Amino acid sequence: MATQPEVGVSDFVLLDNLTTETFIENLHLRFQHNKIYTYIGEVLVSVNPYKTLDIYGPQHMAQYRGREMFEVPPHVYAVADACQRVLRQQGRDTCVLISGESGAGKTEASKFIMKYIAANTTQVHREYIDRVKNVLIQSNTILETFGNAKTNRNDNSSRFGKYMDIHFDYKGDPVGGHISNYLLEKSRVVSLQPGERNFHSFYQLLSSNNPVLKKLGMSTNTAYKILGSERPTAHDSKLYSQTNSAFNALGFSNSVIEDIWNIVAGVILLGEVTFEGGEGGEEGGAVAAGAVAGAVRALGVAEAGLRAVLGRRVLAAGHDLVTKQHSLVDAHYTRLALAKAAYDRLFTWIVQQINKAIDVPAGTYKNTLIGVLDIYGFEIFETNSFEQFCINYCNEKLQQLFIELVLKQEQEEYAREGIQWTPVQYFNNRIICELIDAPHHGVIAIMDEACLNPTQITDQQLLEAMDKRLTGHRHYTSRQLAPTDKKLKHGVDFRITHYAGDVTYAITGFMDKNKDSLWQDLKRLLHSSSNASLAAMWPEGAADIQKTSRRPPSAASLFRSSLAALVAGLHSKEPFYVRCLKPNPLQAPSTWDPLLVQHQTAYLGLVENVRVRRAGFACRVRYDRFVQRYKMLSQYTWPNYRGHSPRDAAAVLLRDLRLDDVHYGHTKLFIRSAKTLQSLEAARAELIPSIVVLLQKLWRGAIARRRYKKMKAALTIFNAWKRYRYRRYISELQTELSRHRGVIRRWPPAPRGLDPALLVAAYRRWRAYLVLRAVPRERWAELRLKVCCGAALRGRRRHWGAARPWRGDYLAAPDYNEKAGAYRAQVASMQKAGQIDKPLFSCRIHKFNRYNKSSERCLLVTSNAIYKLDSNSFKPLKKPTYIKDVGAVRVMSSDVQLVVLCVPSAKNDLVAALEAPGDDLVGELLGVLASRYCMLSGGELCVEVESGASTRCTLGGRSRALQLPAHADPRAPAFTHAHNVITYHPPSARA
Ligand SMILES: Nc1ncnc2c1ncn2[C@@H]1O[C@H](COP(=O)(O)OP(=O)(O)OP(=O)(O)O)[C@@H](O)[C@H]1O
Ligand SMILES: [Mg+2]
Repeated sequence: MATQPEVGVSDFVLLDNLTTETFIENLHLRFQHNKIYTYIGEVLVSVNPYKTLDIYGPQHMAQYRGREMFEVPPHVYAVADACQRVLRQQGRDTCVLISGESGAGKTEASKFIMKYIAANTTQVHREYIDRVKNVLIQSNTILETFGNAKTNRNDNSSRFGKYMDIHFDYKGDPVGGHISNYLLEKSRVVSLQPGERNFHSFYQLLSSNNPVLKKLGMSTNTAYKILGSERPTAHDSKLYSQTNSAFNALGFSNSVIEDIWNIVAGVILLGEVTFEGGEGGEEGGAVAAGAVAGAVRALGVAEAGLRAVLGRRVLAAGHDLVTKQHSLVDAHYTRLALAKAAYDRLFTWIVQQINKAIDVPAGTYKNTLIGVLDIYGFEIFETNSFEQFCINYCNEKLQQLFIELVLKQEQEEYAREGIQWTPVQYFNNRIICELIDAPHHGVIAIMDEACLNPTQITDQQLLEAMDKRLTGHRHYTSRQLAPTDKKLKHGVDFRITHYAGDVTYAITGFMDKNKDSLWQDLKRLLHSSSNASLAAMWPEGAADIQKTSRRPPSAASLFRSSLAALVAGLHSKEPFYVRCLKPNPLQAPSTWDPLLVQHQTAYLGLVENVRVRRAGFACRVRYDRFVQRYKMLSQYTWPNYRGHSPRDAAAVLLRDLRLDDVHYGHTKLFIRSAKTLQSLEAARAELIPSIVVLLQKLWRGAIARRRYKKMKAALTIFNAWKRYRYRRYISELQTELSRHRGVIRRWPPAPRGLDPALLVAAYRRWRAYLVLRAVPRERWAELRLKVCCGAALRGRRRHWGAARPWRGDYLAAPDYNEKAGAYRAQVASMQKAGQIDKPLFSCRIHKFNRYNKSSERCLLVTSNAIYKLDSNSFKPLKKPTYIKDVGAVRVMSSDVQLVVLCVPSAKNDLVAALEAPGDDLVGELLGVLASRYCMLSGGELCVEVESGASTRCTLGGRSRALQLPAHADPRAPAFTHAHNVITYHPPSARA
């Protein structure tokens, strides 16, 4: 935002060559670019754009939150934020004084300020704070309905003064508020200038066919006198609904809302009452006619009562009551007084009710407050009456406050900081204020004196008295004092030269309006109303008619004292200013009337304001703020100054930049020329992008580091959890082991992420170790074979030689083979020739072949093949059978030494009976074969065990039955055959 292209200068203090022309030029240039806000230091100048600008949305609010005014483009939000910051940081009460003439945008500015304050709370969605925010904003709607009207200068002109205090708690959140209202222009109720409208409330009530209208028989289309030439519109109808929902939001009950609209209707209908007669009528007085019945119903009073108060007046003279008949003129006057008083009191009462709704509840801690003053602007009409006099006096007082505070602050600041300066000439309007409110000599004092005079003083006499007493005053004149001035009417007009221009006031009605008294009859009538709210508005109507009360203070002096109290209150607060300007008198967008703007600029003293502000220095800034803003411009101050004080840092920075047109105050630095400030700003703007990149980099780094730390923390937690689960698993295993004496029968379910295979393997190794440690190492190879054999047979054969030592190469043992020497020599020579591997098993066998021939052979099993050897020469017969080609080995479940080696790739199985005198060699052969088969092919050798007395084999491609003999035959050879059946005769059967 700070790098947005600048249009003109955003702070008039930075304007080179300051004159009224350059001031207005800059204002105009910015206005053309929709930059309606410009600063004079901390004073905001606002030009009414008369069109909706897209600069007030939530995203715009966000840009101003917590930012210094000079950091962001000028905006009314910046003023609101500065207010809240002072309040939050320093705990000081602040106020925003919004001034400008009628239609300059004061009310709009005040609404934006309230909107910003309501949005800028620390507590989001806290029910109470939300309600306060809502109520503060909704209260505006009601006040505008009843207190605003269309004038020739502003379609939504505030016809009353409003000062609103918003209370905050210690955190800076709004907790409630209070509204003070000042002098409603009640004469509008009964008299309108051409082209103007009455208060919005009348048109809103008449804009739609609502129950109140129906009940009273009123209609939207009727031309009620009070409305002047204007008629209700569709927009009024929309506003009527908004007003009612605002009433609801503020907690007004339905009956109270109805009461209020009834009173409004009553005032409209009072406007319709006419009179007949006058002198010589009924009892000699005027008689009310027209809409009396309607007014009676609307106001909830007795018809006779209303007729009575309009026709005559009852006075207490001592202990007697005297009745005085009204003339026609008096009757009209009374009717108008009643209508005005009823409406005026209604307005004040509504404000009181709003205050009840937004009041800080008892017991709530309220710390600080922001006051927002939005008062009717300075105005000059065709005919200016008492109301304009008060309104313009009020503006005069506020201008005085502005001059005093701004100049005083300025002067005090220079003195405080020990800086020398030359005072700037400006117009002080104190003299005009004194013309109006000085005790004894002021216009108000003269008016009050006239009112207190026991003899009836006319307006004209009042004017004469004023002329006499104020003659010679520079700011007062009349036709009497300036006979040549034809613009002033004799005996009617007087002119006051206000700070904002000459205003001619017509004295007519001044006396009456200043007295502002209402006859007791009328008060009693209204108090007697069946409309509960109306009755409550007029408590003094309950007083006895005989009771004499003190004359109330006059309207002007009441107004003066309430203004004095207001000004005193504002004095104690830190003020912020919004100076509103009208760009044209037509309420038209994008139209610039240079003369009008120049006029306002002149009377608001804006150029003087800039001059005072500059008074030799374009800028003053606290040392710490200065260093904070510009520290990047010097290597000695960036990123941080290592010295002692911000003042030293500022001095070092400026020396480094070779800038010397500055003065060092005690706490602030004063920069003399705007150029210096601009050059600082330009240098800063150049560096900002790289700083932004740096900040982004650091911030991204910080985010990444934070994320990394989080990840690490998560990992630590995860690891701890994992360890815990593993430990629990291990302890479960330990429990299982101890329960079953070192054996795990059931593996508990492993935690996720843990592969139990390792543990199982370790466990098995450990179990194996426990078993193996009892066996000598040299017997491990034999044990392995036995394990293989045991696994292959799996309890299917009882005898397999498990208990005896396995010798393997039996043919090499002389006790088994008497030709062991020859065998060993043959094997050695074959080994040497590379024909065979190391012998693992050998024995003698009886073999049966496909020719049904039984023969003796030797069987040799090496590490990968099975050889049939000649039984004498031990030479291999035919080619060997490779172990990995063996499809299955078939044996019997009894201790028969019969083995069928099935080789799927050959047509013939090896059908052999092992020669094992007194021993079982089948198990040993199976152990060797199973172990080698597993090593060579990775699979498990298929071992078929025949539980009966017969099995089968394949010889010559045919399946043959192989059986044991039913009866022992000692003479039988090892194998016999009959047809397809081969019978093996074990040696025991043969012996
Ligand atoms: N910032 C703004 N953006 C758009 N329109 C605006 C702005 N300020 C004022 N206006 C327009 O100008 C009109 C008059 O403004 P506003 O009622 O605030 O004047 P005022 O200074 O309060 O006058 P008065 O003294 O008569 O009450 C508004 O109704 C609105 O149409
Ligand atoms: Mg206003």
